[in-house]
Amino acid sequence: MGMQPQRTEIAARAAQIAETLSRLEGPLLPILHEVQGEFGHIPTEALPAIADVLNLSRAEIYGVVSFYHDFRREPAGRHVLKLCKAEACQSMGGEAIARQIQQALGVGFNETSADGSVTLEPVYCLGLCACAPAAMLDGEPIGRLDAEAVADIATKVRS
Ligand code: FES
Repeated sequence: MGMQPQRTEIAARAAQIAETLSRLEGPLLPILHEVQGEFGHIPTEALPAIADVLNLSRAEIYGVVSFYHDFRREPAGRHVLKLCKAEACQSMGGEAIARQIQQALGVGFNETSADGSVTLEPVYCLGLCACAPAAMLDGEPIGRLDAEAVADIATKVRS
């Protein structure tokens, strides 16, 4: 892990991003995306800074951050595995694969493994329905998940 910027720096940068984008119509989501793009997650210190600029309560911002699956409240692991939980993948055994993956990686959905190697996140359709069940490891699509693919993923994230 690199050095984390100081709290005040995070708040100052979040306020700057919020001010730059505050004139957009419906600025909150773009601001949150930008903040996550910069820090890899939405740091807690960013919330009051954004709230101040937009004249919203912290609770309102917090509600939006927790509503959307896209936003991460904690820094991610070294690898991010997104596993599809939408219908086409479910109908092709996605449920069983999800269990195998959680077991093989020792991590639940929206969690990062204790060694920091991998974060597991649910997604709802990756556009890979023809290759269901599907996942994405660090942005690389993986289709037709089976026991072997799960073992491969586990090896990759630990290396
Ligand atoms: S439903 Fe899983 S990729 Fe479309």
